Amino acid sequence: MNVVFLGATKGMGSALSRRMAARGDRLALLGRTSSSLDDAARDLAVRGASEVSTHLCDLEKPEGFDAALDAAFAKLGRVDAVVVTAGLFATQDELEADASLAERVTRVNFTNTVVFCEAARRRLLAQGGGKLCVFSSVAGERGRKPVVIYGASKAGLSRYLEGLDHKFRAQGLEVVTVKPGFVKTGMTAGLKPPPFAGEPDAVAETVLRALDRGDPVVYAPAPWALVMAVIRHLPRGVMRRVGF
Ligand SMILES: NC(=O)c1ccc[n+]([C@@H]2O[C@H](COP(=O)([O-])OP(=O)(O)OC[C@H]3O[C@@H](n4cnc5c(N)ncnc54)[C@H](OP(=O)(O)O)[C@@H]3O)[C@@H](O)[C@H]2O)c1
Repeated sequence: MNVVFLGATKGMGSALSRRMAARGDRLALLGRTSSSLDDAARDLAVRGASEVSTHLCDLEKPEGFDAALDAAFAKLGRVDAVVVTAGLFATQDELEADASLAERVTRVNFTNTVVFCEAARRRLLAQGGGKLCVFSSVAGERGRKPVVIYGASKAGLSRYLEGLDHKFRAQGLEVVTVKPGFVKTGMTAGLKPPPFAGEPDAVAETVLRALDRGDPVVYAPAPWALVMAVIRHLPRGVMRRVGF
């Protein structure tokens, strides 16, 4: 595949891009720091990527999205998939104590990610279609005490991606929404892993399979699909009493 990838420098993005490299995919990496991009590009080239280019793109600077995507599309020619794993997390306590952090997390995870996806959508549709794979979260499935604000940012993102898939799939845009449960990455370092906590590489394997098939929604690790099926149906009164 020819893939434009925002967020390959760490965590699940790094694991997923490594799996793509291992099968010889061509990658255009987008990210906010040139040194991290260069490190990732070197690593992916050694792992077998047929070609890796890097392009500066900061999810906090939407004015740079068009230029970064134009450069990446120009480098790759036809693009099979645009993947977005970049995102921000902070604990509910941190977000309640710091209004500017709460604004930043909601802006990066929701507003700016939607703006980036819109720019990617226009380009994918203009070339006749392609895949748009974006990491949301199970945190967006219900309003929950530990993730009130972060969860709301991901809930908005999930709804946007669902609508996008409904509207444009017939025109060849396949939207793949990834809903990870708890995964052990830098983002969750210091948090107590719950049961069914996953590893980035296992998540990457599941996501790549779903991406190849064009599945509209993928839960990873897989048990979270079952966990969230139960959580989605719990009455509000129960959700209010439990700490989950
Ligand atoms: N880990 C979990 O348990 C979990 C669960 C559910 C959903 N998710 C979601 O899954 C995605 C990946 O999570 P992860 O755990 O792999 O995270 P991670 O290890 O913290 O990696 C985050 C990635 O996002 C990039 N990024 C952050 N802010 C950026 C910005 N302003 N501009 C460009 N890139 C930026 C980082 O790039 P730098 O190298 O520049 O920092 C890094 O590559 C996120 O959307 C997260 O919300 C994670």
